[in-house]
Amino acid sequence: MKVAVIGAAGGIGQALSLMLKNRLPGHSQLSLYDIAPMTPGVAVDLSHIPTYVDIKGFAGDDPTPALVDADVVMISAGVARKPGMDRADLFNINANIIRGITEKIARICPDACIGIITNPVNSMVPIAKAVLEANGVYQPSKLFGVTTLDVTRAKTFVGQLKLIDPTALRIKVIGGHSGVTILPVLSQLDLDFTQEEIEQLTDRIRHAGTEVVEAKAGGGSATLSMGQAAGAFCLKLVDGLLGKPDVQLCAYVDDGGQYAGFFALPVELGRSGISKILPVGELSEYEQQQKDNMLEILKKDIAHAREFMK
Ligand SMILES: NC(=O)c1ccc[n+]([C@@H]2O[C@H](COP(=O)([O-])OP(=O)(O)OC[C@H]3O[C@@H](n4cnc5c(N)ncnc54)[C@H](O)[C@@H]3O)[C@@H](O)[C@H]2O)c1
Repeated sequence: MKVAVIGAAGGIGQALSLMLKNRLPGHSQLSLYDIAPMTPGVAVDLSHIPTYVDIKGFAGDDPTPALVDADVVMISAGVARKPGMDRADLFNINANIIRGITEKIARICPDACIGIITNPVNSMVPIAKAVLEANGVYQPSKLFGVTTLDVTRAKTFVGQLKLIDPTALRIKVIGGHSGVTILPVLSQLDLDFTQEEIEQLTDRIRHAGTEVVEAKAGGGSATLSMGQAAGAFCLKLVDGLLGKPDVQLCAYVDDGGQYAGFFALPVELGRSGISKILPVGELSEYEQQQKDNMLEILKKDIAHAREFMK
């Protein structure tokens, strides 16, 4: 199993690479790429951790050596949000980066599963789809927007509120990965919430990124919790690729036109990526309304990606 991390010298990339070096199955290969010259050094640093994971780092203009034979490519390359910077501000820089990297993936490792962390996820994933389609290698079961941090935060905040172990919770978060498009399905938990609690939790999960950006006071956005979330996502993807049974997660995936074109949904993972899109299940009246209200925003984000690709 070979995993490539693109953007590996960044805040998320380093935290993700640390987790993968520690937790990938033995005999895996981990390759790190970033335009930053320090990237081979990040790999040397991690190589001193005593696990049976072979690690190499590459810098420069060309990600090709990192992508050769990759089964999974995790992308956190891009610019992160600073205070006062809207997700939309990131669009052009990050869209160009995602387009460039996906073009390389299409040529070098077209069968790899791709996990996109770079924001705005709602638009970056459709951009990757357009590039892969243009190269004739698009496989809907292998392209993911990484929304795991929304699930992580939902578990943490519900655990805090109800004084329970967050690791025991399984929470679906559906929709997209920005503001009101993030919809935690709290009604399906075996817990009692007042409507006020549901609305406060939903709001906190939606805007938790801003909590971090403000607390870091200009020093960046979520990197450590995101590194952990991306690592958890990637390890599940690897479990699926290795044929482990019952591997499930929520991710922003091609919905086949059922919702907005892309939608974060619960999926089952198998030897070629998504083996099944799982049912969302019953939504409360509030959740149903929130879901209906977000669709136009998501469709606009996806149309924005199409505009960029023209
Ligand atoms: N999906 C999520 O839940 C989530 C959460 C937090 C942040 N993010 C996003 O993840 C991205 C990365 O955040 P970060 O905090 O790690 O930022 P960072 O600035 O610390 O790291 C980004 C890295 O990307 C590298 N890079 C830039 N262009 C590149 C290219 N063409 N090829 C390879 N590497 C390139 C930079 O050199 C840098 O090392 C941002 O877009 C951020 O908004 C996503």
